[in-house]
Parts: sequence; structure tokens; C-alpha cells
Amino acid sequence: MPFWIIIASAFVIVGAWAGTAGGQPSEKTRIGHAVVVGASSAGRQTACMSCHGINGQGDGVALFPRLAGQYSGYLAKTMEDYASGRRQNEIMTPIAKQLSGEERQAVAIYYAEQSPSLDKPVAVRGYAQAIQRGGVLSAIGDRDLGIQACQNCHGPEGRGLPPIYPYLAGQHEAYITQQLRFWKEGRRGGDEQDIMRAIAGRMTDQDIAAVAAYFANLPPPAPAEQIEPTAWAEDDRATGAMGSAPGGQQ
Ligand code: HEC
Ligand code: HEC
Repeated sequence: MPFWIIIASAFVIVGAWAGTAGGQPSEKTRIGHAVVVGASSAGRQTACMSCHGINGQGDGVALFPRLAGQYSGYLAKTMEDYASGRRQNEIMTPIAKQLSGEERQAVAIYYAEQSPSLDKPVAVRGYAQAIQRGGVLSAIGDRDLGIQACQNCHGPEGRGLPPIYPYLAGQHEAYITQQLRFWKEGRRGGDEQDIMRAIAGRMTDQDIAAVAAYFANLPPPAPAEQIEPTAWAEDDRATGAMGSAPGGQQ
């Protein structure tokens, strides 16, 4: 067991109950915590914390996304997408399949309750211009290229719109880049209306790098107000609610 996991484990009991009423974890948070440390009903399931961390900060170099404070509705939907194969990933699909539906929901709630923290920005040449271009794409999009403003769905400054639009602020830069490339190449599922595939398909590699730099350097939102994962509901998909931009430009 790597040293940092042993250290992290020492904080498991005292540190992981942030965001729960009166400091007492709910039953779902308890189940979610068991999953995170690898003690799910499946027994031998890989501990989420070995990649995403006990507090869900992830790892920008290893491309493990930050889950801390992400909306529980989005996290729960994503776990279902991995389990059903709607979103395919060689690491996450088998892990999600090992868990029960209740455990997938509980682990979503657990990570949604953790506080995200921002990594130190990496200053490289041309970075300021990239961040500026990213900010323009986020706020107004690009009419000529047919790219919708990200904030129409992901909220002002990438803070997300629960339950289905994830926050992007403070997400790891390399992970944002990778996911947009996956969509562009048709390798990421889970978005039935193909909104993100259409958007990423119109973005140049430079624009993808620009939005990744912009969002990665914004402070992530505080733990989302808890919304039951059922709120994302099959009805939303059925009625196409995912496809209608709250304030679409096109
Ligand atoms: C061996 C490393 C590893 C382990 C263990 C792991 N993950 Fe992941 N996780 C990843 C990687 C890599 C991705 C990105 C996959 C992709 O591109 O779809 C990911 C993506 C995710 C996402 C999607 C996040 C987003 O913003 O869309 C969720 C949710 C998630 N993991 C939850 C979990 C949970 C819950 C567990 C434990 C039950 C877990 N992961 C265990 C590596 C891991
Ligand atoms: C019309 C709505 C809409 C617009 C506009 C939009 N998105 Fe999205 N985006 C979504 C939805 C819905 C998802 C979640 C897909 C899923 O459930 O897998 C998403 C997911 C993402 C993700 C994956 C996050 C994660 O944690 O894995 C990234 C990155 C992203 N969007 C970037 C962008 C960028 C950059 C723009 C602007 C150029 C943008 N989006 C504009 C709807 C939108």
C-alpha cells in the first residue's frame, strides 16, 4: 500500500464527514464512504480513494477527475452510465458494475459532500491569452464556429447547474482536455443528445486547450446543496430536457 494511502486512511474517520448535518453522517454517506475505501458489498472492489482520493480531489497528472463537491445528480447518473455501458471506460466500467445501485448512489452523495480545492495554476508562455480565449468561449461562445457559450449550461464561471450539468471550475486541466478530445473522436458516451459531441467537434485543439486552461484556473463551487440523484430522472432524458440549453445561443 502506498504511503499516502496509509496517511489518508488516518484521516478517514475524522476528516471525511464534511457537509453533513450536525457532523453526523447520513446512512447514504456511510455507505458511500465504505465504497470509497474499498469495502463495498462486492468485497474486492478497488477503493475509489486509490485514484480519486478520500476527499475526491483526483489527480491532474494521472487524469483522475476531481469529484469533490460535484453535483450528486451528475455523479450518480455517470455511475449508472458506466455500469450500463452508456459511457465506456476500461477502468470505470468494471468498477461501477461491481457496485449495487444503492452503492453507486451513495458514493455519489459522499463525493458531492466533499469540499473541492484548487490546484496551483501552472504558468506557461501564452497561458494568459489561452485563458482569455477560454473565457470568451465560456461567456459568449463563437458564432462563426457555431460553438455555444459553455455558461448556457455549465453556469457562470463553470460553476455547473444541478442536477445534470457538471461544474467545470477547478476541474483538472488535462482531464477537461482529454474529455473534449474523446467527444471529438466519438469516444465518450453518456450524453444521449450528443450536445457535447457536437460542441467539441467544432472546437480546434487550441480552443480545447483554451477552455481547459480557463476552467481549471477558476475556483470550484462549494459542496453542492444536496439533491437526491433521482432528481436527474429518466423523464429528463425522455423529454429531451438534457438537449435544451437553458439559454442557448443558436
Ligand atoms: C484505478 C483508478 C480509478 C479508480 C480505482 C476509480 N476511478 Fe473513477 N475514474 C478514473 C478515471 C481514469 C476516470 C476517467 C474515465 C473516463 O474517461 O471516462 C474516472 C472517472 C470517474 C467519474 C466520472 C467523473 C466525471 O467528471 O465525469 C466518476 C463519477 C468516478 N470516476 C467515480 C469513481 C468511484 C465512485 C470509484 C470507486 C467505486 C472510482 N471512480 C474508482 C479512475 C479511477
Ligand atoms: C447545451 C448544453 C451544454 C453546453 C452549451 C455545453 N455543455 Fe458541456 N456538458 C453538457 C452536459 C449535459 C454534460 C454532461 C454529459 C454527461 O452526462 O456525460 C457536459 C459535460 C461537459 C464536460 C465533461 C465534464 C466531466 O466532468 O466529465 C466538459 C469538459 C464540458 N462539458 C465542457 C464544455 C465546454 C468547454 C463548453 C463550451 C465550449 C460546454 N461544455 C458547453 C452540456 C453542455
